[in-house]
Amino acid sequence: MMVNFAVVLGLLVTARLCYATGNGFQVMKHLNRFNKPSMKSIKSPDGDIIDCVHISNQAAFDHPSLKNHQIQMKPNFHPEGMNYESMKTSSEKQETIPQLWRLNGNCPKGTIPIRRTKKEDILRASSINKYGKKTSQSTVAHPTSVDLDLINQSGHQHAIAYVEGEFYGAKATMNVWDPQIQQSNEFSLSQIWLLGGSFASDLNSIEVGWQVSPDLYGDNHTRFFTYWTSDAYQATGCYNLLCSGFIQINNEIALGASISPISKYHGSQYDISILVWKDPEQGNWWMQFGNGKVLGYWPASLFSYLTDSASMIQWGGEVVNSASDGQHTTTQMGSGHFPEEGFGKSSYFRNVQIVDGSNSLRVPKDIQTFTEEPNCYDVQTGKNGAWGSYIFYGGPGRNQNCP
Ligand SMILES: *[C@@H]1O[C@H](CO)[C@@H](O)[C@H](O)[C@H]1NC(C)=O
Ligand SMILES: *[C@@H]1O[C@H](CO)[C@@H](O)[C@H](O)[C@H]1NC(C)=O
Repeated sequence: MMVNFAVVLGLLVTARLCYATGNGFQVMKHLNRFNKPSMKSIKSPDGDIIDCVHISNQAAFDHPSLKNHQIQMKPNFHPEGMNYESMKTSSEKQETIPQLWRLNGNCPKGTIPIRRTKKEDILRASSINKYGKKTSQSTVAHPTSVDLDLINQSGHQHAIAYVEGEFYGAKATMNVWDPQIQQSNEFSLSQIWLLGGSFASDLNSIEVGWQVSPDLYGDNHTRFFTYWTSDAYQATGCYNLLCSGFIQINNEIALGASISPISKYHGSQYDISILVWKDPEQGNWWMQFGNGKVLGYWPASLFSYLTDSASMIQWGGEVVNSASDGQHTTTQMGSGHFPEEGFGKSSYFRNVQIVDGSNSLRVPKDIQTFTEEPNCYDVQTGKNGAWGSYIFYGGPGRNQNCP
C-alpha cells in the first residue's frame, strides 16, 4: 500500500507541475524519464527531495546496451596500498554520512537515493536536452596542448596537478568548501579527473568531486557529484544519474545532494575521500566514497579508451569565468584562498594516489601542475609523512593581480 501511494503521489505532483507550464508535455516527458517511481521520499533541509528508488529501476537500465546488463552488487577486486591515516580530521572520526538529507531519513536496503529533478531544474537549463550535461564547449585542462586559446575562450579555468602514464584508478582525500559564485551561469568545482583518448573529439572522462553550480541545482549548496563522457562532452555523458551510465548500488549517498558540514576558513576542516578504480576482470570503473562505501560503477561498455586504462589523472579545481563586466569573475575556486596560505585556509587534496599496472595504490611519480592564470587561481604540490602526496589549489578569482 505504502509503495503504491508514494507512486501515485509522485505522479500527481508531476502532473500538476506540468499543467502549469507552457511546454508541459516536453517537461513532463523528461521528468518522467528522470524521476522513477519511489518506495519512499525524504525531504532534505535544503529543499531537495530524495527518492528511494528500487535499484533495478534506475535510469542506467533505460540504455539499450544495458537492458540485459547483469548488475554487479560488489567489485571483484579492491586495490590496496599505503594509507595515510595519522593526521585525523573530523570527517574521519565521525561515522555519519556527510550529506544533509540524511538528517531526515534513510533509504531502505534494495533502493538507491536519487535527487528528484524538479520542473525548475529543467527550465533553468538552456534547453531541455542540455539539462544535466556540460556544454559542448567544455574543456578539460590540457597541460600539454598547444591549443591553449581554446581553454581561455570558453572561460573555463583550472588549477590542477596531474600525472601522465597508464593508470587503473586514482584516490584522494579533499576538503570541502562553499566557494562564492558571481553569477548563476558560472560554477566552481573540485574533483578528480580520469582521462583517456585525445582531447579533441573522443576524450573519455570520469570525474568525481564536489561542485557549486547554481544553474544545475538552483542554489549555492556544495554538492557531491560525478560526470562522465566518452566523446569530449558532445553527445554522451551527464552529471550524476541524469542519464543512463553510472550504476549505483549504495543506499546511503545521493549523487548531486548537498554535503555537510563544510570547512571553515581558519576553522574546522572537513574532507571526503574518493577512490575510483578499474575492476581488472570485468573492466568496470568502480567508485568508493569515504573509507569503504562503494557507490557503484561505470560499465566498461560506456567507454572507448577507458575500457583499457586512463592516460592522465588530474586533481584540482575548475571554474567558469564569464568575465561579463569585462573583468575577471570573482567566482572562487576551492576555499577562495591561494595555496600559499596552507592548511586550514587553502583547499587541499591529500593522500593523492594512483592505481598502477599491478593494480596497487601508489604515490604518483612526476606530478606536474597547470593553471591558466596563476594570479587568479594557483596550485602547489608537496609530500610529507602524514599526508603522503598532497596538493594545495584555488584562489579568489578577481583581485589586484587578476583584474
Ligand atoms: C548564490 O550566491 C550569489 C552570491 O554569491 C547570490 O547573488 C545568488 O542569489 C545566490 N543564488 C541562490 C540561488 O541562492
Ligand atoms: C589566458 O588569458 C589571459 C588574459 O587574456 C592571459 O594573460 C593568459 O596568458 C592566457 N592563458 C593561456 C594559458 O593562454
